[in-house]
Amino acid sequence: MLTVSKVQVSYDGSRILRDVSLEVAPGKVVCLMGRNGVGKTSTLKAVVGLVATDSGSIRLGASELTGRKPEDRARQGLSYVPQGRDIFPNLTVMENLRIGAVAQGRKIGSDLDRVFTLFPVLKEMTQRKGGVLSGGQQQQLAIGRALLTRPKFLLLDEPTEGIQPNVIDQIGDTIKKLRDDGLGREEGLKAVAEIGGAIQALRKEGEIGILLVEQYLDFCLEIGDSFYIMDRGSVVAQGAIAELSNEIVKQHLTV
Ligand SMILES: Nc1ncnc2c1ncn2[C@@H]1O[C@H](COP(=O)(O)OP(=O)(O)OP(=O)(O)O)[C@@H](O)[C@H]1O
Ligand SMILES: [Mg+2]
Repeated sequence: MLTVSKVQVSYDGSRILRDVSLEVAPGKVVCLMGRNGVGKTSTLKAVVGLVATDSGSIRLGASELTGRKPEDRARQGLSYVPQGRDIFPNLTVMENLRIGAVAQGRKIGSDLDRVFTLFPVLKEMTQRKGGVLSGGQQQQLAIGRALLTRPKFLLLDEPTEGIQPNVIDQIGDTIKKLRDDGLGREEGLKAVAEIGGAIQALRKEGEIGILLVEQYLDFCLEIGDSFYIMDRGSVVAQGAIAELSNEIVKQHLTV
């Protein structure tokens, strides 16, 4: 279990996160939602150690992570895929995939097959430079690279951001269907379906817990088990995905 409890974070003396608490269990997909600037990314950064916490605790099982370095938390099983395209444009897809695990001194072996099963498009592009991939393909590459570090918990910050938002809006309950008959569809739509499908596949395996920051409600409804909604630095609503009512959406998510 990944347990965040009463975490507070400040930037330049002004408090950004107030008493943020949340839990992610292995095999579950937890959606962290909220409008722009409410503290979603800061929460993920606090968990992986990229910003310091003023107080509160972050535990992986029984082990306390606050105060530990990001590399140390990564070795313990946290893998973070930041918002935006975080790949090396001048390295090949294969080099990009290897780099995270190699930095941790891990062998990749058969894990690579698993990544290629989740993201078939990467297998066709191993020798291509990362920078020439489409936005959706780069996201798949970043998630694939994270998986090769064998995380216990995967933290994804808006994996669908910037992938043809006009089509993401139409996704509804179609992620599954798209993954099945995605061939020939628009590339962006396909990438979103692949990412959604990969998250679902990981969830089915039941080993990795996923904390997913996501602004697209339909994406969360389709693949999430539970949700937390943030507003101005605090968690203001939480529950099972089925409990995410229109009222909550209207109050905290609609712009
Ligand atoms: N390094 C920083 N220094 C100062 N303020 C920051 C820093 N990073 C973020 N902030 C501020 O902290 C608040 C929360 O930012 P954060 O990036 O966590 O929000 P978010 O919910 O991820 O937003 P978005 O949906 O736009 O990605 C914002 O007001 C932002 O301007
Ligand atoms: Mg953010």
